Amino acid sequence: MTNFRTFILGLAAAFGLPWLCLIVLPAMQYQQLTPVAYDKDKDGLEGIYPPAPVNDQGKLVYVREGCNQCHTQMIRPQQLGLDGWYKGWGQDQEGRPTAPVRPNVLRDYLSEKYALLGVQRVGPDLANFGWRAPDEAALYQHFYSPRSVHDWSTMPAYTHLFKVQKIQGPVSTDAVKLPKKFAVAAGYEVVPTLEAKQLVQYLQSLKKDYPIPGQSAVAAAPAKK
Ligand code: HEC
Repeated sequence: MTNFRTFILGLAAAFGLPWLCLIVLPAMQYQQLTPVAYDKDKDGLEGIYPPAPVNDQGKLVYVREGCNQCHTQMIRPQQLGLDGWYKGWGQDQEGRPTAPVRPNVLRDYLSEKYALLGVQRVGPDLANFGWRAPDEAALYQHFYSPRSVHDWSTMPAYTHLFKVQKIQGPVSTDAVKLPKKFAVAAGYEVVPTLEAKQLVQYLQSLKKDYPIPGQSAVAAAPAKK
């Protein structure tokens, strides 16, 4: 009987503790959050807060297509208090401009109905993708045929967000440009649907490093050289 009791207690601890730490405590912290106004004296700025809105229609497409199964939107703080481990997460991609970078904090998600933190990083973190996003044409090509951009890509092709149509008259201005190997039949073109456009706008609006009141406003300020 004691064994059985130990078993039940062990089971309760094994499930109860993670549940408490990963779900109950964060939920309580999150519920207490309220917007805090900028304090010019303390933060050194007056700004937009809650953060500038992201493209909500595009966000719905992102959710529906399950993009957050492979992409996170969360730049972690330093690990185990060791500065430098994950330094530069979110800025280590090609071509990112020298813009403020900081780890994400709970307040970054305050104005969003769903915080798409993601579950695993199969693809790159997209929290600050807006800063390094290429032009629309490049994004359309990537979503229509990821392998035409990187032949090693494991990202699925989202061809259903595009329409293959017969070219009538001149080629559409937003027709997706594809390398020969991936091109559709002659006389046809690939055009993005409204949803593809909204998705692209959503991705371009992802810039989760705006200054927020308090500590991170200081961290978010561009480094003085
Ligand atoms: C099965 C996993 C998977 C899914 C699902 C997925 N991606 Fe990706 N994604 C990747 C991988 C891997 C890469 C890196 C290779 C590449 O560039 O194709 C990537 C790259 C990207 C990039 C370029 C990121 C950068 O920093 O250059 C963007 C933008 C992107 N994905 C958006 C999306 C969107 C939007 C969706 C949903 C419509 C999506 N992904 C769904 C795996 C995935």
